Formats: sequence, C-alpha cells, structure tokens
Amino acid sequence: MSEIAPALSVESVSVDFGKRKRMRAVSEVSLSVAPGRTLAIVGESGSGKSTLARAMAGLLPIAGGSVTLLGEDFTKPRRAQRRDIQMVFQDPYSSLDPSSSVGSSLEEPLIVHEKMSRVDRSRRIAELLDSVGLPVDAARRFPHEFSGGQRQRIAIARAIATNPKVLLLDEAVSALDVSTQNQILVLLNDLQVQHELAYVFISHDLGVVRWLGDETAVMYMGRVVEQGPTERVHTQPAHPYTRALTSAMPIADPVGRESRKRILITGEPPNQFKPFTGCIFASRCPLATTTCTTTAPPVVPNAGGGSSRCHHIDAFPVQAGMPKHAATVALTTE
Ligand SMILES: Nc1ncnc2c1ncn2[C@@H]1O[C@H](COP(=O)(O)OP(=O)(O)OP(=O)(O)O)[C@@H](O)[C@H]1O
Ligand SMILES: [Mg+2]
Repeated sequence: MSEIAPALSVESVSVDFGKRKRMRAVSEVSLSVAPGRTLAIVGESGSGKSTLARAMAGLLPIAGGSVTLLGEDFTKPRRAQRRDIQMVFQDPYSSLDPSSSVGSSLEEPLIVHEKMSRVDRSRRIAELLDSVGLPVDAARRFPHEFSGGQRQRIAIARAIATNPKVLLLDEAVSALDVSTQNQILVLLNDLQVQHELAYVFISHDLGVVRWLGDETAVMYMGRVVEQGPTERVHTQPAHPYTRALTSAMPIADPVGRESRKRILITGEPPNQFKPFTGCIFASRCPLATTTCTTTAPPVVPNAGGGSSRCHHIDAFPVQAGMPKHAATVALTTE
C-alpha cells in the first residue's frame, strides 16, 4: 500500500479455529503498514479484526500465508522480535494487573525484554508516564485509582515501554466517552510522530478511523473486501459493503440527511464452517448475480487509490460532486 518499506505486512494470511469443525475466521488477507503510518481496520462484530490482529502479533498460529515484521519473517516469531510489536486492547484491565501497581506493570516488559539496572528502570518508568501525560507519582498507585482514559494511557505507556516499531490498537478508544477518545487519539498521534510508530488501528467506528487512519481496510466475514486511502474509502466507497458501512455513520449536515436513500440489505451471511466459493457478500448484496455466488470476485483497482473485491464495481461509478451520502445503502445486521 505504500512505497516505503513496510513496518509490518501480511501476505495472504488465513486463520482457522476449531479442530474437528474447522472455521475460517480470516481468509487470505494481504495488508501492510509503513513506519509512522496508520492502517485502520474496520468491519462489523465477528468480521475477524481481532483475530487478524492477534495473528499479526504472533499470538495465534496462521493456517496459511506469511507475516513480515521490519523486513524479517515473523510467521513463527522469535522471542527477540516480540518486543517490536505490542498490542493495546479495549479494556486496560486485560493488560493491567489490578493487583499490581502501575510502576510494576510498566516495569514488567522492561525486565522481560531489556537489560536494565533498577535505577534505569525507574527512570524509564518516569519517562514513560510523562510521555503519556501522567504524573510520576502514578507509578505508586493502582489501576482502579484511575479513570478509563488514564488507564488507557497506562496501557499505552506499557505498550511502548520496549520501544516497539508497531502498535496494534484493538478498539483501544471504543470504551471511552467522545472527549476522552479525542484526548487519547491526540496522544496516539503525538507518540506516532515522535517515535515513527506504525499503527494497526482496529475499530468499528468509522468516524474515529477517518481521523486517524492513513489507509483503511474494510473486513467482512474474514475477508478484506476493500482497502485504500482512508479519505477515498470514506468519500468514494466502491464495494457495496463499504457503502453500507459508510451510510450507517451519523450524518452531521442536514442536507446529507435529506438526500439519503435507505436501501436495506437483508439476507444471511454464509456459514463459515462450510467451504466457500464466490463472493462472501453475495447473500446480502443488492447487486448480486449468479456469477457472484459461483466465482470469487477479482481485485479491482479503484480510482483514487486502493482496491475492492467485487464483480460489479462498475455498477457504482464514482460521481464527482455527489453529496457524500446521496445514494447509500444501510445494513441491517440484526
Ligand atoms: N478463540 C476462538 N475460538 C473459536 N472461534 C473464535 C475465537 N476467537 C474468535 N472466534 C470467531 O472468529 C470470528 C472472528 O472473531 P473476531 O473476534 O476476530 O471478530 P472481530 O471483528 O474482532 O469482532 P468484534 O468487533 O466483536 O471484536 C468470529 O466468528 C468469532 O466467533
Ligand atoms: Mg474484536
């Protein structure tokens, strides 16, 4: 996706769950993110975002494909490589032990990955707290003494403790109120610029992604159906599913709201336990034809950058000057 050598890339990665009844949760995904850039991954619940992130982090075995971190194979991660890629989750309690002081939580990765004296470690802890906007005395306190936003700052401090090159942020701001979300996004942006961090930013919230993501990949049922520069994906979505997602976004301007046309997408997603041919979105797509149910869609380059997988991209010509939400489809997921 970028001309700069990627910090992290996955090539045709698949992930399966289940032994006797196999379920393909991620199917042949190829994506990359460059140093200092953000790749956003969006998609509804169960589309495989977290599974892909865990495979990228080397926390889940992959059924096929390859993962490359900083130019080196990361398909079977070596211990020394793990410090270069860290995750931040929605709930800081999953990364912060409630019975450990903040200082001990921050010290742990330093003990595991760095050869540092006790004095150097406490200096580093103070530096980390400062870099996420927390006072030094936070080290002596415990997670429950902090607000959700502050806890997320602690989780971020812990994630950057070993100077990683890549952060995987899985719904990292989703549990926070809007103003706290914004503060954390500003912090993430500052840290990214300072350390040339590559972010894989996972969210179901397209608004957040639009603010942060340089590139956006849209997942549906384990597949990336569309990817490209974030602004293009938002303003000129090509794939019918992306159109559905963008139309589900709250509209700020009243003009857009009036001209909005709702086309409800119904139908059931396919059973992921069964072998699959054709387009994964066919059963719910208003444009589906017989070809869609029998033949995997080609990767079609989009005007404005990126690509989408659809047999009918031509059915959605991008009209210059068209109001953002003039002709959209709404997705019913329930
Ligand atoms: N450990 C597991 N064992 C079996 N199936 C799993 C496991 N983890 C996830 N799945 C299944 O894999 C699919 C993808 O799940 P995943 O959690 O990656 O989705 P997601 O996009 O992160 O969803 P959400 O937005 O709800 O976090 C789902 O069908 C889920 O039920
Ligand atoms: Mg998830």
